[in-house]
Amino acid sequence: MELSPFMKSLGLKYPIFQGGMAWVADGKLAAAVSNAGGLGIIGAGNAPAEVVDKEIQIAKSLTDRPFGVNVMLLSPYAEEVVQTVLANKDKVAVVTTGAGNPGKYVDEFKKANIKVIPVVGSVALARMMERVGVDAVVAEGMESGGHIGKLTTMALVPQVVDAVSIPVIAAGGIGDGRGMAAAFMLGAQGVQMGTRFLVAAECKVHPNYKKAVLKAKDVSTMVTGDFAGHPSRVLKNKMAQKFVKLEKAEAAKEHPDYTQVEELGNGSLQRAVIDGDTETGSFMAGEISGMVKKQQPAAEILLEVYTQADKLLNGEH
Ligand SMILES: Cc1cc2nc3c(=O)[nH]c(=O)nc-3n(C[C@H](O)[C@H](O)[C@H](O)COP(=O)(O)O)c2cc1C
Repeated sequence: MELSPFMKSLGLKYPIFQGGMAWVADGKLAAAVSNAGGLGIIGAGNAPAEVVDKEIQIAKSLTDRPFGVNVMLLSPYAEEVVQTVLANKDKVAVVTTGAGNPGKYVDEFKKANIKVIPVVGSVALARMMERVGVDAVVAEGMESGGHIGKLTTMALVPQVVDAVSIPVIAAGGIGDGRGMAAAFMLGAQGVQMGTRFLVAAECKVHPNYKKAVLKAKDVSTMVTGDFAGHPSRVLKNKMAQKFVKLEKAEAAKEHPDYTQVEELGNGSLQRAVIDGDTETGSFMAGEISGMVKKQQPAAEILLEVYTQADKLLNGEH
């Protein structure tokens, strides 16, 4: 598989990004992925700048290769996280952004030689991002774990590829080399995977989280937050069912108030990642969870996915 000029410019061996997952993707995981030739991405989530800075320093101490940071623009700390990323421009090669428009930071990132790659779930958003001058987009389908849009990867990726002239990286529902090859057939130049890396040996999530992903089947995920307007894909459990029941009841009211629903969700990802709390935790994971069968070092995941995709794209089966 010939890497596109854009992927080559990032210094990658494999055109595979490890999604910047809030609470999950720390400096250690990002460094492991980058060391193996993919792009490791630290998930800033809602963390304050000093926490993100610590993870950047950890990644810096573990790898000489470029890595990225995912900035959640709706985080109350977004501004200070952006400044921290800029202060580490010697090592942070890429910023991916979720939830919001990175437009006002594009010039600063460009000056710092940091590539800006927003995650988009629609053609309109992809076009808008191209207009504000980003370097590429991650087109993410609703098969993915975490916050999701409305379209599937299969439908979204080719439409985004047709709509913009910047590189497109496909995400959502890519679990192995078959998914990666399919994404390339749809016009993507790279893929981003999250769920598969949840069980990477270097991934810090609680053993209960890993167990839940490994045990999952094709139908083990569900979407919470659809009624409240913030849909997220998680593994089905008591917490997810309680959440949907509550928001559904609220939505049926003449004047819905989702305060209680939001309170239920607060800290639930943290409870899953850190405490492995199967009662009140939200175990964000994608539809490919049913394909994840073993824990492996990140390097092995990258090699396996890339080798399989490469063979398929060369017509070998
Ligand atoms: C636990 C978890 C947390 C995530 N957190 C974020 C996040 O903070 N920001 C973001 O842009 N994407 C986030 N994502 C999405 C991933 O970065 C990635 O795009 C997605 O997992 C790809 O789809 P897949 O799960 O099917 O591999 C998260 C995904 C998971 C599973």
